[in-house]
Amino acid sequence: MIPIYKPYLKNREKEYVNRCLDSTWISSKGEFIDKFEKQFGLFIGSPHVTTVCNGTVAIHLALTALGIGPGDEVIVPTLTYVASVNTIVQTGATPVFVDSVESTLQMDADDVLRKITSRTKAVMAVHLYGLPCDMGRLVNICKDHQLYLIEDCAEAFGSFYRQQHVGTLGDIATFSFFGNKTITTGEGGMVVAKTKNLIDKVFHLKTQGVSKTREYWHDIVAYNYRMTNICAAIGLAQIEKADEILAKKRQIAQWYKQNLKDFPLTFHDELPDTQHSFWMCTMLLDSSEHRDALREYLQQNGIETRPLFPPCHTFPHLFIDRSYPVAESLSQRGINFPSYPDLEFEEISMICETIKKYFNGSR
Ligand SMILES: Cc1ncc(COP(=O)(O)O)c(C=O)c1O
Repeated sequence: MIPIYKPYLKNREKEYVNRCLDSTWISSKGEFIDKFEKQFGLFIGSPHVTTVCNGTVAIHLALTALGIGPGDEVIVPTLTYVASVNTIVQTGATPVFVDSVESTLQMDADDVLRKITSRTKAVMAVHLYGLPCDMGRLVNICKDHQLYLIEDCAEAFGSFYRQQHVGTLGDIATFSFFGNKTITTGEGGMVVAKTKNLIDKVFHLKTQGVSKTREYWHDIVAYNYRMTNICAAIGLAQIEKADEILAKKRQIAQWYKQNLKDFPLTFHDELPDTQHSFWMCTMLLDSSEHRDALREYLQQNGIETRPLFPPCHTFPHLFIDRSYPVAESLSQRGINFPSYPDLEFEEISMICETIKKYFNGSR
């Protein structure tokens, strides 16, 4: 079976984790937390970063640090992973869904404009499947309407908009380092803020609101959302070879694109202003029937794929009885192919030959 993803742990992960074990620094203090944060900050171009224990709590902290809560509305794409939306609900605020753009899969800036009300406090841009959102427009919309801009970069490590790494364009941003992400810590996440003041708030919230000067003194309702030194050790080894991982994933995407160019699949392409990180190699078919049949055929031939996420407004706890036609259609027609850095040309060729066989047989 060719899995949809597996982490690429070929650098110094084991050596660094063993250093944690040998030194007994296995909890959330230790040398690797600072080192990972420093290298991550250098990579994305921000000094205001802090590690957390996953990408979901990273979003919860970002929203909480901005003071978002009951009575507020946060505009978010319905086509996203559920964590973007659940965390808004967890703060007591209301998610307000927007539709997507067919050609990019990203949130529709025109729909964002239509959804702004007097209660809107923030827009959450989710850079889905490794392609940046239309940040030029979203930054201007947020500026014009005095809204916070949050970036959910869980799927977009290594993605750039006009040469700037995503996560450095809005007020606050979050990353995930789950095992299927471009760089991983097993479970883990990062919050990135525009200002020192904001990242200090995030740090205070993630560490039980403990005072920096008075022992065991807590002054707010807060959380333990810290990352462990062991996770940070893996993260440091990962970020040391981030360029290699990203280059390999770009190569894999190109192999798919070249191999399948004569077949009825629409590739999730890079745009002129962007650098795509090709987190998952994503393509669209013309109908949900063809998408499901192709997935089934590949499964029978030992190739794992993923469908695009169901739109969040269709989940029972987030249900809204209205249509987001583009997001719904994309969700039904989209497919993710294996894209882990270990994949070799021969394996991609084999996957593509199987895809071609499906199309040739079904025509
Ligand atoms: C868009 C998006 N946001 C948030 C998350 C949550 O990250 P985590 O799984 O690390 O909690 C994910 C993770 O898969 C994601 O894809």
